[in-house]
Amino acid sequence: MTIKTAGQWLRRASERIAGISDTPGLDAEVLLRAVCMLDRTALAIAPEAPLKMEQLERLENLLVRRAQGEPVAYLLEEKEFWSLTLWVTRDALIPRPETELLVECALDRIEDTTAVQVLDLGTGSGAIALALARERPAAQITATDVSLRALEVARANARAHGLQNVDFRAGHWLNAVPGQCYSLIACNPPYVAYDDPHLQTWHTKYEPQLALISGKDGMEALQQIIPAAPRALVPGGWLVLEHGHQQEPAVDHLLHQARFDSIIHYRDASGKSRVSAARVSESFAE
Ligand SMILES: C[S@@+](CC[C@H](N)C(=O)[O-])C[C@H]1O[C@@H](n2cnc3c(N)ncnc32)[C@H](O)[C@@H]1O
Repeated sequence: MTIKTAGQWLRRASERIAGISDTPGLDAEVLLRAVCMLDRTALAIAPEAPLKMEQLERLENLLVRRAQGEPVAYLLEEKEFWSLTLWVTRDALIPRPETELLVECALDRIEDTTAVQVLDLGTGSGAIALALARERPAAQITATDVSLRALEVARANARAHGLQNVDFRAGHWLNAVPGQCYSLIACNPPYVAYDDPHLQTWHTKYEPQLALISGKDGMEALQQIIPAAPRALVPGGWLVLEHGHQQEPAVDHLLHQARFDSIIHYRDASGKSRVSAARVSESFAE
């Protein structure tokens, strides 16, 4: 059948990607609306609107890539996170909705009005740093990454959203900010084991492995960050971490070993342990 209308393309595209997507109808609709610059209402009112030749060509090209497993966020080079539309390329992890829990936990610990220093380690697209910068304009946020390409994406996102209270540093975890002290350190590190079967899913095959994999048990980055963090925190400062849902006991152990107190573990909407927050003791000293 020759495709002529939006509705025909939607039906065929949904069937074509049903095997690789959990949400084939939604994916097809998002691609169609982006290419044809239609909002939901316009599509609902005129589902059989004719497609132009160039729209059809672009849609077919995106559909082939989606059918091979490439995530919609990379196809459209954008992803919603918090209240921000972020530019994402294959140089940066696609921000996950789960990470908004980390942002909430961090915001609960950053006062609205004071000019506190906050650090986001491993910023990727800038998701966490930019959400914090938007919500806490008086805070000064430093965002780091070891990937220079990811930092370019994050910088572009800060510019696009006019957020001037964020600066960017390159380097390996806390080595990127030698001698600095923060009121809060947020971090969503890589925490997947190198042989985790989830790495074979369509989605993650397209994302930077540096952003996902952390040694043989997924704990390598957390083992480096947690012991080093107290020296980069002011007395009473907070470390807020995302981690795998089975990693809570190991993270808890590392936090106790590093002499953090007030250790709190948070669960996501599905009840899985995802984020831990820990306060460095007021009396912490070498
Ligand atoms: C799970 S991603 C998180 C990205 C972003 N913060 C988010 O939540 O969407 C982990 C990030 O840590 C960065 N990273 C990996 N190893 C690093 C290291 N040794 N030092 C600093 N950043 C690192 C990766 O490049 C990646 O951007």
